[in-house]
Amino acid sequence: MLVLGIESSCDETGLALVDTQDGLLGHTLHSQIKLHEEYGGVVPELASRDHIKNLLPLLHELLLKTNKSLKDIDIVAYTAGPGLQGALLVASSFAHGFAWSQALPLIPIHHLEGHLLSPMLSEPKLEFPFVALLVSGGHTQIMQVNGIGDYKLLGETLDDAAGEAFDKTAKILGLPYPGGAHLARLAKEGDASAFALPRPMKHSKDLNFSFSGLKTAVMNQYNKLAASEITQKNLADLAAATQEAIVDVLVHKVIEALKMTDSKRLVVAGGVGANQELRSRLKSETSKLGVEVYFPPLEFCTDNGAMIANAASERIKAGKVKLNKNYNQPVRANWPLEDINSFY
Ligand code: KG4
Ligand code: ZN
Repeated sequence: MLVLGIESSCDETGLALVDTQDGLLGHTLHSQIKLHEEYGGVVPELASRDHIKNLLPLLHELLLKTNKSLKDIDIVAYTAGPGLQGALLVASSFAHGFAWSQALPLIPIHHLEGHLLSPMLSEPKLEFPFVALLVSGGHTQIMQVNGIGDYKLLGETLDDAAGEAFDKTAKILGLPYPGGAHLARLAKEGDASAFALPRPMKHSKDLNFSFSGLKTAVMNQYNKLAASEITQKNLADLAAATQEAIVDVLVHKVIEALKMTDSKRLVVAGGVGANQELRSRLKSETSKLGVEVYFPPLEFCTDNGAMIANAASERIKAGKVKLNKNYNQPVRANWPLEDINSFY
């Protein structure tokens, strides 16, 4: 069966075709980074309008690329939440209209489930159970994943997400939005030991995180520098120290979670999963425990349509979704992952 997946929950419009037998056939993506850059963050109304503008051209491009036609599509899946209400409505409305016009089943997908299962795009044989570290611009969670739709939250951030910590500190250092990848690039030239930054909640007795204090600490360090000291070298050192502080806490808590659950598999998903420092630290620390670590391919770390089509395909194969033709399903801007099965 051929599944069309559509993502428009934030600032990426993504479409993909996944065959339930053969996997990913192709995907198309438009990032709105340029659009939001001058505002230093996502402007929801602009995001919605841009999704509307790009969805159809991306669909045409996808069909051309995969040599398929609209008639070949058997099932329509879309991100129903969580995300920006207006942005979510774009994929949802299109999916409803298209599925209705062709009398196709419609599958709403939880955005975070899309991220959680995204390593399957390159590792179709990934087995349950596993521990998942979900690190994006909006979420930082450690989860025990026992099967499709069976997710137990082990810990999460109490304030800023890891991606937010990257983005907000990058902004302090004068880097463009979204700052995560820019900060990581600058950090490569820096010496992390040049500035002492805190490791918030590293030794708390739980698996929760707190990153909001870190940006204040970076701000304080930055403000201590005289104008003549705002050099490329100092900025790179501060970027390296920031990245190390974030990565250090993430790695520490994940290792704790793996020990606590006695897990032998770790999945890392979400935009911050693209961070090379995080990847290499996790690889070396998990190998000491005999744990295998899975990362989605870099292009599927940040938001995309492939992870949505893939999640729908996995649900279909596992028999975890009713293929009904309900063309009146709401979007859920706030949709807790623990509440995921209430939709199916
Ligand atoms: O998963 P995602 O595309 O969107 C959300 O659902 O939030 O993640 C975006 C986040 C942003 O905060 C971005 O700065 C961060 O992922 N990010 C990175 C890197 N690439 C993207 N953070 C650190 N290092 C990177 N290389
Ligand atoms: Zn995301």
